[in-house]
Amino acid sequence: MVWVVSTSIARACANIALVKYWGKRDAQLNLPAAGSLSLTLDALVTTTQVTFDPGLIGDELVLDGVAAKPAELARTREFLDLVRAAAQIRTHARVVSKNEFPTASGLASSASGYAALAVAAVAAAGQVMSARQLSILARRGSGSAARSVFGGFVRMHAGISDVSGADRDDGTGAFAEPIGSPLTARVRMVIAIVGGGAPKSHGSRDAMDHTAATSPLYRAWLELVPRDLAAAEAALATGDLEQLGAITEGNALAMHASAIAARPAVIYWQPATLAALAEVRALRAAGHAAWATMDAGPHVKVLTTTGEAATVAAALRSVPGVTDVSIAAAGGPAALLGAESRPS
Ligand code: PMV
Repeated sequence: MVWVVSTSIARACANIALVKYWGKRDAQLNLPAAGSLSLTLDALVTTTQVTFDPGLIGDELVLDGVAAKPAELARTREFLDLVRAAAQIRTHARVVSKNEFPTASGLASSASGYAALAVAAVAAAGQVMSARQLSILARRGSGSAARSVFGGFVRMHAGISDVSGADRDDGTGAFAEPIGSPLTARVRMVIAIVGGGAPKSHGSRDAMDHTAATSPLYRAWLELVPRDLAAAEAALATGDLEQLGAITEGNALAMHASAIAARPAVIYWQPATLAALAEVRALRAAGHAAWATMDAGPHVKVLTTTGEAATVAAALRSVPGVTDVSIAAAGGPAALLGAESRPS
């Protein structure tokens, strides 16, 4: 082992899925049961510094200035073990991660978090990986993180041709890649934060497993995803925002329907979530470009255009229970910001 302290810093943007990932076919390798499609967002950035230091007696994790809870640290340690195995090192690491989100409350940061961690940890361990290899690695931390390695619109491959999951693989086919589109420069995502002291929502990891195991609608969900993916990709190719928007909203509602039908139910929505959804439908009825999507929480994200974003944001600000609204454009790929090594 070389006795050096090696540090790298990376940044990655979060992404919001337009066709959702909801269900695994393999928990160990974190393989998705189906593909997904997302938009990486410039407003949601995580910066992560990783230092492999022979002087450490265990891995350390500081999140937004606070020492992480044991469960968070354990998940990061498992991820670092993958990097250590690839680099054939045993050195422990200190991970310092900061979310530069417009609001502190409730936006899932695991996508940007694990994408930034993958890029920083691999570089600090002295390894070089292609973007595809980084995407495969980031997936082990969080399925959606595989998409945050890339900017703009991103397609995640399930890595199987058969949605039944019969032909399991070793995970090398489950990676993301960017999709160019005339829409990339024109789209905006308006993020409406729904607050109000709700009980803590179910983590996506457990909730998707529970949906897959108990929801009578899960099979229908899995049959829907490939159709939505094909239609969304066609819309991206032709620059058809109406088509993309309709798929985005319909797909999110179908994902939530499958979760709501799980036993016991997984319900992420609050009254203000439905009020925001109604506002989006009203905007559309009035001729505006606005389509909603929701993830494992009560917040509503609205796909719209550069020209309409301010109108959509103002409308959502007026919804009771919406506590904060921000506008994001397409973000870039995960990037290494710096690296250095010194003798320990
Ligand atoms: O990457 P995970 O395990 O946090 O799951 C993401 C789940 C959703 O955000 C609800 C959907 C998605 O595709 O991002």
